[in-house]
Amino acid sequence: MIENNSWRENTMPAIAVAPKPKRTLHVENIGNLSVALKDAATIPDAYLQPEGLRPDVPYDGFSKETELLPVLDLHNLSTGTADERQRIVNDIGYACKEWGFLQIINHGVPLRLIEKLRELAIIFFNLPAAEKEKASAGQVGYEGRHAYMPERVHWVETLTFVSGPVSNVEDILRLTCLDYTEEFIRSVNDYIHEMQKIVLVLLKLMAESLDLEKTFFAQHFEKNSTSVTRFNYYPPCPQPSMALGLFSHVDSNSVTILNQDEIGGLQIFKDGKWFSVKPSEDALVINVGDCLQAWTNGHFKSVEHRAVLNSVKPRISIAFFSSPHVHAVMAPPMKLVDDNHPLLYRPFTWAEYFPRMQKKRMEGKVGIDTFMRLDHKEDEDS
Ligand code: OGA
Ligand code: NI
Repeated sequence: MIENNSWRENTMPAIAVAPKPKRTLHVENIGNLSVALKDAATIPDAYLQPEGLRPDVPYDGFSKETELLPVLDLHNLSTGTADERQRIVNDIGYACKEWGFLQIINHGVPLRLIEKLRELAIIFFNLPAAEKEKASAGQVGYEGRHAYMPERVHWVETLTFVSGPVSNVEDILRLTCLDYTEEFIRSVNDYIHEMQKIVLVLLKLMAESLDLEKTFFAQHFEKNSTSVTRFNYYPPCPQPSMALGLFSHVDSNSVTILNQDEIGGLQIFKDGKWFSVKPSEDALVINVGDCLQAWTNGHFKSVEHRAVLNSVKPRISIAFFSSPHVHAVMAPPMKLVDDNHPLLYRPFTWAEYFPRMQKKRMEGKVGIDTFMRLDHKEDEDS
């Protein structure tokens, strides 16, 4: 699919030739690198994607499919007629089944808050790397070197907060001493609060679309849900067609809300090809993650996506990854299991799934199907 033969050939040692010693990657802080490469024509090898994985569609290569991605107007939820409300329910069901993605408008998050948050984040990412690295704290906080797997490095800097059940927003932002730290903390917390409200609305609509009790999913997100908020900052890249901001992945949580700026770069893999999601200032992108795919017995799809780069403008996106209470059991309701839809996954909790998923991700085996599916033989070490 995303791998082609040339990539395979590159990775297979020729017969009778001694295997090459494993290349050790020197991964630079992307912030520093992008400043150093400002007028350069090429990027270091570590950031070049193997041929079959390079983006074949540019960040602004919008096609007809782009226009088809469902856009839901949530305004009608409160003011519309019963029919209009029902249409939203039907549309969300269709989008989650067919696309795994949708966009929402009139979602109620103040545009001013989104703008403020982006402004503050851009000031943060423009700091010297040494200053930003003060906010590094293991897997959360600032990260300027994303090299999870050998030979594959993302062209992105991130700032990550865990915001549920216990928030570390304040702890992380206080690691750097900035004039606007208090404002940043307040804005991030306000934003998270808005995201939590939207997640509940969406989960209720999703349940309704499957003819389930409205609160079937949402009840597990009301209190002590687990959420992660991540700022992705993609500096301009001199060779955008050879590198990736975030390589193809599926989100492992339940529901993701992505706020992309006006530049764009999010691409979705649908029907065997990639297409760019057109950015819109007043829209939020919603996608189904692996847990919700399993929880709905595969009725909803967790779809591969990636972030591509451009050579001119830095781009920022804010992702809110939502998961239920860590001990909530994600087991599909019997209503979603029948002869045409046999039970696909075993019940699991986020507490059980998250550490295993992280281990698999390090090995490059990403996705819930590799270790939660009933018909999949698990690795010895799983
Ligand atoms: C993510 C993601 C896409 C983007 O953060 O998981 O898919 O456009 N981001 O930043
Ligand atoms: Ni993602």
